[in-house]
Amino acid sequence: MNKWFYFNLFLLMLGVWKIAEQGRLPTHILFGALGLFLFLFNWTRHAVFSTIRRTPNRQTKIKLANLSKKIVPFHRWIGTTALILIMIHAILVIHLFGFSWQNIKLLNGMLAGAVMIAMVTSGWMRLFRSTARKRVVHIWLGITLFFVIIIHVAM
Ligand code: HEM
Ligand code: HEM
Repeated sequence: MNKWFYFNLFLLMLGVWKIAEQGRLPTHILFGALGLFLFLFNWTRHAVFSTIRRTPNRQTKIKLANLSKKIVPFHRWIGTTALILIMIHAILVIHLFGFSWQNIKLLNGMLAGAVMIAMVTSGWMRLFRSTARKRVVHIWLGITLFFVIIIHVAM
C-alpha cells in the first residue's frame, strides 16, 4: 500500500483520539471534525492515484481507476462542503474564545483555513481550465494542508 494511506489513517486516528480524549463533542469541534473527515476523503485520492501510477498489477490499476471515476463527480462538492464546514468551525471558535494573537492553536487554524481556501480555489480553477501547472499546485496545496492540519489537531 502507498505510504499516503498510512499517513491518512494516522491523521484520522489522531483526530478521533483528540476528540475522544475530551469526552464531549461541542458544536465547534463537531464542525472541525466533519471538515477533517471530508478533507481526508478527498485527500485519499492522492493515495489512490499514487498507487495506480506505481502498482505493477494491472488488475489493481483497473479496479482503482474505475473506483476513482465513480467518485470524481462528488470530489468538487465534498471539497467545497469541507471548506464551508471549516468556515463555520472558525466562526464558532472565534465566537467562543475571541481572536487573540496569543492563541497558537487559533493562529495555526487560520493558516489551515487560508490553505483550505487556496486548495478549493485551485480545484475550481483546475476544473475549468486544467493545465499541468494547476495540477501540481492542487497537489502541493494538499500536501501542505495535510501537515498544517496534523499540527492543528495535535496541538
Ligand atoms: C482545514 C481546516 C481545519 C480543520 C480540519 C480543523 C479541525 C479541528 C479539529 C478536529 C479540532 C478538535 C481537535 C482538538 O481540539 O485538538 C479543532 C479545534 C480547534 N480549531 Fe480547528 N480546524 C481547522 C481550521 C481552523 C480555523 C480556520 C480556526 C480559526 C479560527 C481553527 C481554530 C481551532 C481552535 C481554536 C480549536 C480548539 C478548540 C477547543 O479547544 O475547544 N481551526 N479544529
Ligand atoms: C479538501 C479539498 C480538496 C482536496 C484535498 C483535493 C485533492 C485532490 C487530489 C489528491 C487530486 C488528485 C491529484 C492528481 O491529479 O494526482 C485532485 C484532483 C482534482 N481536483 Fe481536487 N481536492 C480538493 C478540492 C477540490 C475542489 C473544491 C475542486 C473543484 C472543482 C477540485 C477539483 C479537482 C479536479 C478537477 C481534479 C482532477 C480530476 C481528477 O481527479 O480526475 N478539487 N484533488
